[in-house]
Amino acid sequence: AKRTFASSSTLNNVIKNVTVIGGGLMGSGIAQVAAQAGQNVTLVDISQDVLKKSETNIQNSIGRVGKKLYKDDPAAGKQFVEESLSRIKYISDAQKSVEQADLVVEAIVENLEIKHKLFKSLDEAAPSKTLFASNTSSLSIGEIASVTKRKDRFGGLHFFNPVPVMRLLEVIRIPETTDESYKAMMAWGKAVGKTCITCKDTPGFVVNRLLVPYVAEAVRMLERGDASAEDIDIAMKLGAGYPMGPIELGDYTGLDTGLFILEGWHKKFPDNELFKPPQIQKKLVQEGKLGRKTGEGFYKYTK
Ligand code: 3HC
Repeated sequence: AKRTFASSSTLNNVIKNVTVIGGGLMGSGIAQVAAQAGQNVTLVDISQDVLKKSETNIQNSIGRVGKKLYKDDPAAGKQFVEESLSRIKYISDAQKSVEQADLVVEAIVENLEIKHKLFKSLDEAAPSKTLFASNTSSLSIGEIASVTKRKDRFGGLHFFNPVPVMRLLEVIRIPETTDESYKAMMAWGKAVGKTCITCKDTPGFVVNRLLVPYVAEAVRMLERGDASAEDIDIAMKLGAGYPMGPIELGDYTGLDTGLFILEGWHKKFPDNELFKPPQIQKKLVQEGKLGRKTGEGFYKYTK
């Protein structure tokens, strides 16, 4: 089909139908904020178990949001929650899920080959107007987009955990991204309640490029015995005003996730000392101590 923006619904910034691929923490959060903003959302995962978990997580999280937004009007809060939830469909067929989509946001595992396979098949199944975006935190948007025939309608939409709470969205352009596609993505980010910043397709974009080496250096500090985990965290909370200390944040995001990002960058940029994976983090990950999600990381957690 010929690709003209005249026939495209994105022309008028009316992204109404959003497909989110990947039912993990990030995908669920993205589906949730889009549904809260009145959009029709399809959340896709190959695993029914994952989809069930996403549904429960979204219900819990929307409940918290509803309570906060409608403190003085519980009836309106209940309606907000019910209407938002009713806008989300859960399905496992990715190709089918994009047939009506104005925008597809991918939030699956951080593996280039798997993302390539997915985007190739979505590129065939989706209408030509559909915008594609990846929520990758560490891979190159250009490399992900390279297997599609719609690099002009491709970008990065990078959210932060927890998605319903964190107010930022990084919008990443690749050289091929058209102004129209970029503007539609910026408008969509605003529509789902985020403040958008723009960044080139560089490793980690803005936030992770700064945050990942910072957390790694805090872990190395612990490794060297310079200070305790507790004291490092107190220091950054009270001395720099961060809501969480770096060790706590490492546990919160997942030590496996942090390590995976570092290892990928270290392989690509071996001379950059900032990207060197710390030994004690490798050891914890090998032991299955991945942070808050497994009950133990640098700290122990009780539910
Ligand atoms: N859904 C809905 N609401 C939630 C929520 C969720 N999943 N998690 C927290 N909230 C709400 C709470 O209900 C609470 O609301 P209230 O103010 O009305 O009571 C509010 O957020 C604050 O939560 P808590 O009181 O439980 O705890 P904190 O005040 O410590 O806030 C935090 C928690 C928002 C996570 C805060 O500690 C924080 O901002 N931490 C830093 C997080 C961060 O740096 N994230 C980025 C990680 S990097 C990343 O995501 C990139 C990726 O590529 C890896």
